[in-house]
Amino acid sequence: KRLGILLSGRGSNFLAIAKAINDHRLLGAKIAVVLSNREDAGGLDAARELKIPAFCVPSAGRKRAEHDAEMVARLHQHKVDLVCLAGYMRVLTVDFVRAFPDRILNIHPSLLPAFPGLDAQGQALEYGAKVAGCTVHFVDEAVDHGVIILQKTVPVKDEDTVETLSARVLQQEHAAYPEAIARVLSGEYAISERRYLHRNK
Ligand code: GRF
Repeated sequence: KRLGILLSGRGSNFLAIAKAINDHRLLGAKIAVVLSNREDAGGLDAARELKIPAFCVPSAGRKRAEHDAEMVARLHQHKVDLVCLAGYMRVLTVDFVRAFPDRILNIHPSLLPAFPGLDAQGQALEYGAKVAGCTVHFVDEAVDHGVIILQKTVPVKDEDTVETLSARVLQQEHAAYPEAIARVLSGEYAISERRYLHRNK
C-alpha cells in the first residue's frame, strides 16, 4: 500500500514511519510521497535525504479549496492509498476528506476527545491532567474528531513543563503511528455503525 505523508514541520513522525518500514515493522507499506505546505519544513529535507519524492505545495495566500485541490491531485498522481497527516498544520476541506473516505489518518498529541486543537500539552497541564498521551484517528469532516484507531498514554509529572511533557508524548507518537497504520492496512478492523473501530470477531 502506498502512503502519502503530509507535514508542516520537522517531520519526526514521518521519520518514525519511514524507520518502521525500513525495519520491517510495517510490512506492505511504502511511502510514495511527502507533501508539505511549508517550503522550510525540515521533513521535506529529511525525505529528500531518504530519496523519497517530496514536494512543497505552498498554502500561504492561497484559497483553502484551491490549495487542497492541488494536494489531492499530487496524492492521486502518486497513487496514494492512505494519507497520513503527521504534524500537518492545516484543516482539510470537506472535499479533501471526501477524496479519501476513511483513508486519511492523523496523529494528535492528546487523548482525544480531551484537549483537541492547538497546545494540547498546555491544555493538559492547565487542567491538571494526571495522564496524557496521543491519539491516531481517522480524519472526518470535523477537526480532531474521527474514529480512534489507537491511543498511547504517559504519566504527567508534577514538575512537567510543556516541553518535558511534549517530549514524553512524542516518544509514544513514534510508536503509535506505525502501529496504527499497520492495523488499518491489516484489514482486520472494521468501523462499527456506532463509529468506533473494533477488531473483526
Ligand atoms: C506532533 O506532536 C504531532 O502530534 C502534532 O504535531 C507534532 C508534529 O511533530 N500534530 P513532527 O513534525 O512529526 O515532529
